[in-house]
Amino acid sequence: MSQPLDLAALQAHPAPSTFKDAWQARLERWYAHPGLYQWSLRNPLTRWLTRRRTRKLFDLMAGFVHSQVLLGCVRLDLFRALHHAPASLNDLARRTGLAPAVLQRLLLSAVALDLLEHRSQGRFGLGPLGVPLAQHEGIAQMIEHNHLLYQDMQDPLQFLGNAWSGGMAEYWPYAHEKPAVAMPQAEVDKFTRYSELMAASQGFVVQEILSSYFFDEHRCVLDVGAGRGRFVSELAAHAPHLQFKMFDLPPVLALAREGLQAKGLSERVALHPGSFLDDPLPEGADLITLVRVAHDHPDAVVQQILQKAYAALPLGGALLLAEPMAQPDEEAGQPGASVDAYFHFYLLAMGAGRLRTPHELQTMMEEAGFTHVEQVPNAMPIHARILLGRKSQCLPLNHQNSVSKH
Ligand SMILES: C[S@@+](CC[C@H](N)C(=O)[O-])C[C@H]1O[C@@H](n2cnc3c(N)ncnc32)[C@H](O)[C@@H]1O
Repeated sequence: MSQPLDLAALQAHPAPSTFKDAWQARLERWYAHPGLYQWSLRNPLTRWLTRRRTRKLFDLMAGFVHSQVLLGCVRLDLFRALHHAPASLNDLARRTGLAPAVLQRLLLSAVALDLLEHRSQGRFGLGPLGVPLAQHEGIAQMIEHNHLLYQDMQDPLQFLGNAWSGGMAEYWPYAHEKPAVAMPQAEVDKFTRYSELMAASQGFVVQEILSSYFFDEHRCVLDVGAGRGRFVSELAAHAPHLQFKMFDLPPVLALAREGLQAKGLSERVALHPGSFLDDPLPEGADLITLVRVAHDHPDAVVQQILQKAYAALPLGGALLLAEPMAQPDEEAGQPGASVDAYFHFYLLAMGAGRLRTPHELQTMMEEAGFTHVEQVPNAMPIHARILLGRKSQCLPLNHQNSVSKH
């Protein structure tokens, strides 16, 4: 690792430590009691709890097999092939070129994981988790992409000791090195590759933002780290009164230009190539959006981006920050926390960014000068959580003091 990593601020538990610690220690002793397992399985009131815990642990152990089953199905294109058209084992064996006896293991595993389902006459069809995979190309692309991460993590301790030496670090050129001004074609290809993946996988995040936030009050939106412009294109269709600016690295915006032209958006979208490490953000927008950008970068860079966003906004302007965030303490115990494990490792393998809680990002936004920072509730926080902050119409107190002194 060539850069130091930021440490997350661990929140102290609100309960008095002596009581909570004593309770946790007692629970741990119960769990460790040699007779508890058998006793709880005999007792109909506790059996479900022990079964659930055992099952959860088994799933953790088997997680690698589960994701390989998923990847196998994606590589064989089974989800699209079986959408609306269930097929028999022999038929699928002919189409995939795999021997029926081995293909059957894959299909039965996929049925066990709810990806596929048994249908009449011994055929296989899509299960409830297979349907979105047939419909959204972006999910299949992310599953294929995750293979890089899992290769890097094959030996987790070696990975932790040397996280940026693998395929993921290589895949994300900007995440640990300053992008060069002039770059060879092989470097440009890397920008094309990740920009395509981002555009394909951004659909769910865009949907979360468009269905949770009203853009009526805004006139012009600057999307920072805009990629190929999928968010801007979909927002342009959603809110026809808006004008746009896009800011991203030059090779990325060069890719975006063609797509915007094809959608007839060239007149409504101004492109501003640059780097937020070196350049100021363009002025003129009353809403700045940062979608899946902050988590790629260390705290010092995020502070820089937020300060530049604050400087670029007019008084009364707003910043909307949307990305996956760590599950806040208030939601402890609710399902969904396991998603954090994925992002902690993904972002480590990628570079020096990290998964932050909404509270951490809120504090960073406030430190950059934003006020009235609040979380915009959205239906599917796995895809992204959304924070909104304002550049207040009133001058901040310290600024007022310095003005009144003159
Ligand atoms: C994870 S991608 C997200 C893209 C898009 N907002 C989305 O959600 O799909 C992060 C984006 O930030 C851009 N980026 C990274 N470093 C940058 C820099 N120093 N200046 C400007 N843009 C940068 C990348 O090129 C990329 O398009």
